[in-house]
Amino acid sequence: MAKKPKALITGISGQDGSYLAELLFDKGYDVYGLLRRTSAGPPPYIEDLHLAKKLSYVYGNVRDLSTIRIAMEEVRPDEVYNLAAQSHVWVSFKVPDETWETNFYGVGRVVNEAMRVNKDVRVYQASTSEMFGSTPPPQSEASPFSPVSPYAEAKLKAHEEFIVAYREKYGLFAASGILFNHESPRRGKHFVTRKITHSLAKIKLGLQDKLELGNLEAKRDWGYAGDYVEAMHLILQQKKADDYVIATGESHTVRDFVNAAAAALDMPITWEGEGAHEVGKDKNGKVIIGVDPEFYRPNEVHYLLGDPNKARERLGWTRKVSFDQLVTMMVKSDYDSLKHLAP
Ligand code: NAP
Ligand code: GDD
Repeated sequence: MAKKPKALITGISGQDGSYLAELLFDKGYDVYGLLRRTSAGPPPYIEDLHLAKKLSYVYGNVRDLSTIRIAMEEVRPDEVYNLAAQSHVWVSFKVPDETWETNFYGVGRVVNEAMRVNKDVRVYQASTSEMFGSTPPPQSEASPFSPVSPYAEAKLKAHEEFIVAYREKYGLFAASGILFNHESPRRGKHFVTRKITHSLAKIKLGLQDKLELGNLEAKRDWGYAGDYVEAMHLILQQKKADDYVIATGESHTVRDFVNAAAAALDMPITWEGEGAHEVGKDKNGKVIIGVDPEFYRPNEVHYLLGDPNKARERLGWTRKVSFDQLVTMMVKSDYDSLKHLAP
């Protein structure tokens, strides 16, 4: 009987870690998750996988080399999916050191230790469309990188130093997925999409008065996380390691996202004013959306629109869930989980 492949996922408690663990389990892998001890513990969907004996935990922190060394020796993975990161762009301006420690040096620790225990290991690195920064759309694998935040600078340096260079220097099977924004009902509530769906569901249910946002003009290429983890797996199954843009090829403003979420709740919004004075009103003229410049970034990425042609041609990957389906899925999930609290 063929040996089961072993995968180690760092960032297991995050959005992507959870969907990827489910996918790899279904594909017959032994799945291990690198878990950082937090007082809140792992989210329920991860704990459920663990309790069902589908997922094993190894404790570790990518900022602590000894824990990564022990984890790699214990698991000896065939495939490593390095998803661990300080993943919030706005926060990266507040905590640049932590961001570099995790998103740059942490990648080095994971890649070096993975390679040390298994020279044939295949490593997936969670690179990002933020690395394109101010590069005009559409962005593809051939576009220049131009990062504008500590988050994106650290991610780009890790991509160049530990993925591209290790492929060339050591022949390591190391590959970056340059993923554009992807969302789901499991998205953290401090990212704009989930902040919108969660808050609008609460407003609809009479549990919140108003939603404060930052830049409504920013454009993002938003897809569904469940589709994007399939691309991660495909990237590691190719004959040759390479980097791929994963995107929908469609972009929307933050305001478009609010409109779509509000429409899904049958709560149309009328917009008035501009910039920091823009407001969104409900059908009774009540202001339910406002702008708070606190959420502006010192440097903004204005327009992301990915060109997923290479992924379609070489991986056979395309997104399955449309923008409207994604927004509706997120709104419905938040509304259903909150409705028992309605007054
Ligand atoms: P997420 O939900 O924020 O999850 C981040 C994960 O990293 C969490 O499991 C977190 O664990 C873990 N982590 C943070 N610091 C760590 C450390 N020092 N040691 C070990 N684990 C640590 O992020 P996501 O949306 O799933 O994204 C996954 C990866 O893809 C990230 O690297 C992100 O930068 C990248 N990416 C995401 C997108 C997107 O749109 N979602 C797009 C492009 C690239 P705790 O629970 O312990 O905090
Ligand atoms: N978070 C947040 N909160 N963003 C807001 C808000 C708000 O209240 N109001 C407007 N925005 C705008 C941001 O300025 C940004 O232009 C856009 O909404 C998206 O912000 P986020 O949802 O925080 O995501 P991101 O694009 O900065 O980063 C995400 O995607 C990257 C891939 O492009 C993260 O998942 C990164 O880890 C990932 O690499």
